Amino acid sequence: MELQAVEKSQAASSINNASECAKKIENEGFPKDFPATTKFANSEFPFVIIRLDRIIQNLSWIARSSRAMTILNNFMQRSAVPATTFDLLLVRRGETDEVKRQRNGIIKTMRVYLNGKIVDSRDAVVSVFDHGFLYGDGIYETMRVYDGVVFRLDQHIRRLFRSASLIGLSIPLDVDRLRIAIYETLIANALRKAYIRLTVSRGRGPIGLDPSLCAEPTVVIVAQELKEYPGSLYKNGIHLIISETRRNSKEAIDPHIKSLNFLNNILAKIEAKKKGAYEAIMLNVNGHLAEGTISNIFFYKDNMLCTPSAECGILDGITRGVVIELARTEGMRVREGKFTVKDIYAAGEVFLTNTTMEVMPVSNIDDRRYTVGSVSKLLRKLYREEVNAYISDVKAEGPSLWGENQ
Ligand code: PDD
Repeated sequence: MELQAVEKSQAASSINNASECAKKIENEGFPKDFPATTKFANSEFPFVIIRLDRIIQNLSWIARSSRAMTILNNFMQRSAVPATTFDLLLVRRGETDEVKRQRNGIIKTMRVYLNGKIVDSRDAVVSVFDHGFLYGDGIYETMRVYDGVVFRLDQHIRRLFRSASLIGLSIPLDVDRLRIAIYETLIANALRKAYIRLTVSRGRGPIGLDPSLCAEPTVVIVAQELKEYPGSLYKNGIHLIISETRRNSKEAIDPHIKSLNFLNNILAKIEAKKKGAYEAIMLNVNGHLAEGTISNIFFYKDNMLCTPSAECGILDGITRGVVIELARTEGMRVREGKFTVKDIYAAGEVFLTNTTMEVMPVSNIDDRRYTVGSVSKLLRKLYREEVNAYISDVKAEGPSLWGENQ
């Protein structure tokens, strides 16, 4: 697709050659009036210079218009500058589809963000003394990218900082640098429809629990093609069990911390798998419904959409929040509260939510059957509309903005 909205500044137009211009910018920084993107049609190659600092939120726009990835790779290899110091991208124009790039071998290996650098996945290794590895001491976020835009990015970043503060971890990047790092990782992998996993661990240190043994946290961002859940699951619903494993109590490891320490959930997942179920619902220590191993739970009963409240000891899922907002806007009655297995057994419809599965209907819990009914169908549709509206809003903000306001 042709590049749209390319501007050309006075400063840029006085230098016709793109690489000359790039060199000048590298040495002297951007001239004041240098726009977010500048096209050099008459250069030895048709190039576009893109200011990552101004355009980063709009990856989809970059990906559509150019082959950012090729150039980013070349540029990084040449300059050996840590990825986070990138201010500009030279983008060769003309190659128009991802398949072609793949065929041409441009994307050979996955690239991973590791402590300020974008590296090949085979070089993306962390120490065996990292306390994330030794003790599960760290936090993470999972994000979903639609058409090059990270859905509710700022909410994810806020939650990451909250998790960090709950474990006394200081993230070595500020919010802006994190956003840049996320988009750099996407660009480096030329991804538009993606799954992102951002991990911050306590870092490397001698054996011993004391976090102060670790000087620097480890920051890793992995972006990979998103594999959607099969359509048949949305059509027919998934099978759940009520797990014997109870959710960690808030007083033990607060589920508000999106922690690397996932054994609680893994034990429940093992149970689910043994019983041929897709997901397990965990109760809290008081016997109230809490959440799934990687999801929040909703059910519809007596004309009321019900979901366990934060008090029950759950992760306050971002998808959960969106679904509650949508249901309320739609005029549904919503109750966040304390519920029992009996309540959910008596429900008409049940569904799960999370970032990657969005709104997933449930067909069974243990031996109970549920229909994939109008409520989950409606909320799934509204969720998709909300995603689309969000993506359009971010894109409409243009290449110079960051997206959501703080
Ligand atoms: N998991 N509860 C738990 C325990 C989770 O791990 C998750 C998300 C959720 C839903 O949160 P959100 O709507 O913000 O994705 C609830 C992610 C998907 C994961 O572990 O990869």
